[in-house]
Amino acid sequence: MEQFRICGGKKLTGEYELTGAKNAVLPILAATIVTGHESKIKSCPNLSDVQSMFTILKEIGCKVTKEEDGVIIDTKPINSYVIPEHLMREMRSSVFLMGPMIARCGKATLSYPGGCEIGLRPIDIHLSALRKLGVTIKESHGFLECTADRLVGCKIHLDFPSVGATENVMMAATAAEGETRIINPAKEPEIIDLQSYLNTCGADIKGAGTEEILIRGKKSYHQAEHNVIPDRIEGGTILAAVAMTGGDIVLRNAIPEHMSMTLSKLREAGCKIREGNGFVEMIAPERLNAIETLKTQPYPGFPTDMQSQYLTLMTMARGTSIITETIFESRFKHVEELMKMGARIKVDGRTAVVKGVDKLTGARVVSKDLRGGASLVIAGLAAEGETIVENICHIDRGYDRFELALRKIGADIEREVTHDKN
Ligand code: UD1
Repeated sequence: MEQFRICGGKKLTGEYELTGAKNAVLPILAATIVTGHESKIKSCPNLSDVQSMFTILKEIGCKVTKEEDGVIIDTKPINSYVIPEHLMREMRSSVFLMGPMIARCGKATLSYPGGCEIGLRPIDIHLSALRKLGVTIKESHGFLECTADRLVGCKIHLDFPSVGATENVMMAATAAEGETRIINPAKEPEIIDLQSYLNTCGADIKGAGTEEILIRGKKSYHQAEHNVIPDRIEGGTILAAVAMTGGDIVLRNAIPEHMSMTLSKLREAGCKIREGNGFVEMIAPERLNAIETLKTQPYPGFPTDMQSQYLTLMTMARGTSIITETIFESRFKHVEELMKMGARIKVDGRTAVVKGVDKLTGARVVSKDLRGGASLVIAGLAAEGETIVENICHIDRGYDRFELALRKIGADIEREVTHDKN
């Protein structure tokens, strides 16, 4: 078990370079299966979720070779269409391996992913869309057995713009006969990055980022090299940490358009922000103003993956904020921990009312999910005294050695190994 020990109260300042986006690289690594060739993926972040994806790819026969400037995935030697249950459990998002495995092998067997820390996370939208393409899916004893003799392009209207379902359909449809149109797809920048990777491999996909995606299936693909887009959520998390400590920062390798909602809410809270080609510069005020309301929405709305960090910012702002989480059911688990540090928050269903206090005080808190865990670190950086954040394996899923990155901009934070008494 590992934990972070944080000595709070230091202003964060300096420059910070963003790594490749977790939510872009994971589907792209899955999509390498479609091609049956080598792909070189550059700006691949060093995260535990990415390691889990490598383990799955190796388990089904692919070759994963790390090089200094990227990773080479060779999916030619794939020899299995079964993803073992223990690997599915390690990473819930492995559900989007379904589409590429069906495209490549005509089959996929995986366990039902079930719920996770932030909500129930059903996959009904994935399944009904894949069935429309011609996939037969049998669900029994927690397993999903998917088979397709042939995939046939069609019009698929998603009831909700699910990110994972959009990606699954895009990947499966690369092998379908004719045209597939996805209506009401997710519009996240990571969807555009998946389109651009697949097109580099020879796919014919248009419309990612708009109301409709058009995929024309192809019989064969070729090798490719792709640079993953920068992580807009890592960027937002660092800005939140800096804003909470009243510091200033220049984010490098950033795409400000991808972060526009996060930047707009930071401006509303009193931060001065300048954005330009590849950078975001922010100067935080001594004390933030509360933003009256914030509601998470599918992109381009305010990202659910930034909700925990923003709620944390508001705990020390001047005034009261009302934060509504519309995407996931259980994304307020960090609230209880923040209250141990002196925050004043009331949760009613999917809404949290946050009354800003003058200060937070260090405490021993437990990380329960990825972004909630990062938020506790942010709170610890701004709190008076020492904060211990336990269970940081969740944070390692989405941030590459978070403590080293934060130390570079002035944080006093250490990773410690603890020995469980049991
Ligand atoms: C992706 C991101 C995650 C982000 C989320 C929303 C990755 C690896 N993860 O997750 O970080 O928080 O988008 O921006 O990219 N839903 C259904 N049925 C389905 C599919 C989804 O009801 O078949 C519901 C989910 O339970 C959730 C909502 O739709 O309430 C959004 O889910 P979705 O957009 O699919 O998120 P993920 O792809 O799982």
